[in-house]
Amino acid sequence: MLAVVVSSDRIHAVFDVLTRSGPDKSGHYEHEIMPPTDPPASPGFPTTRLRRLRQIPGIRRLVQTTRLSPADLVLPLFVRPGSGVRSEIASMPGNYQLSPDLLADEVREAAALGLGGVILFGIPEHKDATGTSALSESGIIPQAVRVAKHAAPELPVITDLCFCEYTDHGQCGVVGRVAGRPDVDNDATLELLARQAVVHARAGADVVAPSGMMDGMVGAMRRALDDAGFLHLPILSYAAKYASAFYGPFRDAAESAPQLGDRRGYQMDPAAAPGQAMREIELDLAEGADLVMVKPALPYLDIIRQAADRFPGVPLAAYNVSGEFSMLKAAAARAWLDERPVVLETLTAIRRAGASIILTYWAKDVARWLQRSP
Ligand code: PBG
Repeated sequence: MLAVVVSSDRIHAVFDVLTRSGPDKSGHYEHEIMPPTDPPASPGFPTTRLRRLRQIPGIRRLVQTTRLSPADLVLPLFVRPGSGVRSEIASMPGNYQLSPDLLADEVREAAALGLGGVILFGIPEHKDATGTSALSESGIIPQAVRVAKHAAPELPVITDLCFCEYTDHGQCGVVGRVAGRPDVDNDATLELLARQAVVHARAGADVVAPSGMMDGMVGAMRRALDDAGFLHLPILSYAAKYASAFYGPFRDAAESAPQLGDRRGYQMDPAAAPGQAMREIELDLAEGADLVMVKPALPYLDIIRQAADRFPGVPLAAYNVSGEFSMLKAAAARAWLDERPVVLETLTAIRRAGASIILTYWAKDVARWLQRSP
């Protein structure tokens, strides 16, 4: 068979080869076209046909190496004070700000579906400059943790540790003056993070997850947890967290948008050399992180892959963040994309890149889809 690429100068070149001689002076071909010669022998084909393993579903499944399982998925949940509150987040359809009483049902459902865990984000009653309510033993997260552990004792409850939801300025720590400019004061924030970790631990959190990208945050928390007797409480560090525009919908959900400036003074630059993410992970592990995270997931699959290769044996989580959720959800709502296959393909890609754990707003849907067709 002869495939002809249609591009006028190319056609001339092909004809030159196929005819006994080239065109005459006026550019015409006088001679008969020769039959095409056999294609050069392929080193594998026809003995090797890769399509053989794609013919029937059972064989395709047999040779898969990347599988999704509900046990690898963690569901993020937003909790706010009150009772009977279930208010849908406009930019994240199907996700709600829940009061602790309604959180119980959600957590029981997550456990029944076999999810790997839930991660809790709190929206406090009051915000102030230093995020005081993040340190209260009766604050929204301690309340929520107690409810969740009571509702489903076996389900791991992870708490996000950060100050952006608790400060009136929306920055992830105490704002001070650094080199004459207003900026988050790293070391003053560490003290608060350490106290917040102990508050969550006392309430019964199974894992604490610092997300503020402060230098030294893991070490500070580890020391505080150890001093308080929580030697065995694991830390999941948001180790390589980028300053991403894909967090937009989350900031509506958690009511945590920075009121002034942005977070580029502490979150990583998307254009930084990937080695910087490896250094972040390496340092966090040295400070005592038990699990590490790359966030967001989709635009950073290369970082996930490098981290998986570089730190084998370290549980690696990836956060399929709010913007990644909302963009597919919005396209699916218009029937521009078919939700179930695009979600399964997306999460498969994140697992294939090397993440062992995925934080995703689709965790419950995926668990249901997997039950129906493994
Ligand atoms: C900070 C935090 C954020 C997210 C998780 N933890 C927001 C931010 O850093 O701006 C984003 C998660 C998402 O977008 O789904 N507490």
